[in-house]
Amino acid sequence: MATAHQVSEEVVREALSRVDDPEIGKPITELGMVESVTVSGGDVKVGIYLTIAGCPMRETIQSDVRAVVEELEGVERVEVEMHTMSDEQRRALSEKLRSEQTGPVIPFADPDTRTRIFAVASGKGGVGKSSMTVNLATALAAQGLSVGIVDADIYGHSIPGLMGSVDKAPTVVDDMIMPPITHDVRHISIGQFVEGNAPVVWRGPMLTRAIQQFLADVYWGDLDVLFMDLPPGTGDVAITVAQLVPNAELIIVTTPQAAAAEVAERAGTIAQQTDQKIAGVIENMSGLLLDDGSVLNVFGEGGGQQVAERLSQLTGNPDEEVPLLGSVPLDPKLREHGDTGSPIVISEPDSPAAQAINKIAGQLKVRRDSLAGKSLNPQVR
Ligand SMILES: Nc1ncnc2c1ncn2[C@@H]1O[C@H](COP(=O)(O)OP(=O)(O)O)[C@@H](O)[C@H]1O
Ligand SMILES: [Mg+2]
Repeated sequence: MATAHQVSEEVVREALSRVDDPEIGKPITELGMVESVTVSGGDVKVGIYLTIAGCPMRETIQSDVRAVVEELEGVERVEVEMHTMSDEQRRALSEKLRSEQTGPVIPFADPDTRTRIFAVASGKGGVGKSSMTVNLATALAAQGLSVGIVDADIYGHSIPGLMGSVDKAPTVVDDMIMPPITHDVRHISIGQFVEGNAPVVWRGPMLTRAIQQFLADVYWGDLDVLFMDLPPGTGDVAITVAQLVPNAELIIVTTPQAAAAEVAERAGTIAQQTDQKIAGVIENMSGLLLDDGSVLNVFGEGGGQQVAERLSQLTGNPDEEVPLLGSVPLDPKLREHGDTGSPIVISEPDSPAAQAINKIAGQLKVRRDSLAGKSLNPQVR
């Protein structure tokens, strides 16, 4: 598109301000990532600083930059040159990002945090904690909320697989960790730091340190909701989370089976000892819908309701009933979509399981600052 007038450097820089760093989610112009802009006739040369040499977002940033400049009037050829930040530049960026995350070391530990934090717990493994975590997170992100997940199940980490990000590694900018983002959800997991499927063999203090780092050193931005996927049981990690983020609310996941319900109840009673709120109970793997329309109660009936009632009794506060947030049916597709990293709430939103999870998400999406009777965040539909 040859035109008579030459595009100005200012116009090019303005266009570049529409390119966000995919990991940080802020314009590259604000992050000091534009090295140079040179205009000569219809030729525009843009130099871009990557935070690190092997930046996994290299291609994305390069093509995004090219795209916004190419569509400017008077531009004929675009050259995008990639450079790497110096240690000093990286430190400056990290300081800038940190200064935006005001407050204590763990921003979520601040009693005034606007982020609602949910710790997803259960008495035993395999009841669907991780599946509920990723689906609830994805559902809320799809509704426009800013959402993060901490995989606090260090030994049994499964979030990268369920979020379809096993091939994505976090980027480290100085001492800040940029978590991978898929399905619009930022998430961090020990699985992103170990080779292949190498087992993590750590003792208590190291578990605590890892979770502390996930909360303090990861760039989360201004989250509406943070989910923490806990390991099964009532061990070290549950206590660590209660200490590090006292305002985390527990979501207890159980199956309808009476035995499972009893174990789930035990997980819930931790909340009593640690003085944490219980947001509610999810009954997962409730009836399987058969082709003839009948329902097969594979794991029995009523466990979720039972746990909710017992926990309500335990808290002893009639104004703070622990609600049964919902029952999610057994659905082989939920597992299949989990295995391929595309949560069922977005890959098959009309399925009964997805609808049940969406309904539960609807009950969780209130931002903390709106709990006090203030109006909802305008993004919340
Ligand atoms: N509602 C459901 N229907 C069918 N399969 C499910 C359902 N919920 C979970 N699963 C499957 O059960 C297994 C255990 O779930 P997972 O979320 O990993 O549990 P946990 O985190 O509690 O150990 C996974 O294979 C998962 O896909
Ligand atoms: Mg799990």
